[in-house]
Amino acid sequence: MVNIAVLGYGTVGSGIVEVIKTNQKIVDAKANDQLHVKYVLDLRDFPGDPVEEILTHDFEDIINDPEVDIVAEAMGGLNPAFTFAKRTLEAGKNYCTSNKALVAAHGAELMQIAKDNHVNFMFEAAVGGGIPIIRPLYQCLTADDIVEITGIINGTTNYMLTKMNTEGVSYDAVLKQAQELGYAEADPTADVEGFDATRKIAILSSLTYGQQVDFEDIPTTGISKITDKDFAYANKLGLGIKLFASVRKQGDKIYSYVAPTMVSDKHPLFPVNGVLNGVLVRGNMLGDTMFFGSGAGKLPTASAVVSDIVEEAKNLKNTVLPTWTPEKRRLADAEDLAFVYFVRASKNAMFDAKNLFVPKEIYDDVVEGEFAFFTEKMSGKELAEKLAKMDGVLSVIRRED
Ligand code: HSE
Repeated sequence: MVNIAVLGYGTVGSGIVEVIKTNQKIVDAKANDQLHVKYVLDLRDFPGDPVEEILTHDFEDIINDPEVDIVAEAMGGLNPAFTFAKRTLEAGKNYCTSNKALVAAHGAELMQIAKDNHVNFMFEAAVGGGIPIIRPLYQCLTADDIVEITGIINGTTNYMLTKMNTEGVSYDAVLKQAQELGYAEADPTADVEGFDATRKIAILSSLTYGQQVDFEDIPTTGISKITDKDFAYANKLGLGIKLFASVRKQGDKIYSYVAPTMVSDKHPLFPVNGVLNGVLVRGNMLGDTMFFGSGAGKLPTASAVVSDIVEEAKNLKNTVLPTWTPEKRRLADAEDLAFVYFVRASKNAMFDAKNLFVPKEIYDDVVEGEFAFFTEKMSGKELAEKLAKMDGVLSVIRRED
């Protein structure tokens, strides 16, 4: 029997218990052993819930129980998750988590502690919810120089953008829906301002390039300034607006950013709608490969955590996760990357726009009092210089095809 403790009985934590219970026979067969949830840790009580029988409020019960082999954490946040992770690994127990904040901030250190103690620190659920992307990156896509990873890796914002576009639901109402569905972070600012996606692309970058990429170094723009007016143009032009998180390798330089992006239906991520996530991985030999599935929510995320539990159950005293080094990887300036930009401006800026840019077409009949155009391809720096000379700019969104 493999004994498991689940830390946190919220959306994901209760999902972990449910996945194991529902699929007990299947996960036992895959783990080659019987998976048994011995403890659930939460500060709250759950009267009437069967979990009451195994509920503890004290982490010491878990860490001091020699029968506990695996600790699965779904509490989120750095404290006390970091302390719990460290103590678990140092006690020679395996740890797995859906906590991207923990992995982005302390992944290298925790993987090293896991290695030193011949156990595992796994985090399949930390990026892309239920989509397998972590394990493929370190187990399968090892023959390639990965030149790009671009993902829609925040379910909340993708759900919001989709609903705002297709159903005209207001920003506040759709955010509330995403919270009710269990997609959003405790503080949804992390979703809408892009920081959740930034942590996830930092994790994918660190894993891919083998060195710590600090999420604080990644320029990030969220979706809070996207309005129905942007969608009015996007719809007319047959384009989508998605929150992209990207890392790109050019020569020996690595660039990363998170930003809303207009995409045409030629882009592989165009059909990724609702709470779905999609990750495009581009290798120098493989070409493009796509990962696609549920990016947030109780059971998909829990399914990924349980896949780690199964992997750890098969390797209780054997580290199978490669680590990235804590040595920081410096990112090149993402403002040097060239894009076409979509610019909206008030009508009085028309003269400047035509002087500063070479727009192929001006869209002046979509929203009253303003016009919009696509710039030629240019770096973020060139764009900023030009826009500084132009009054009346209303919004700027990059474009990719
Ligand atoms: N808030 C996150 C999202 C949860 O919406 O993607 C899954 O990481």
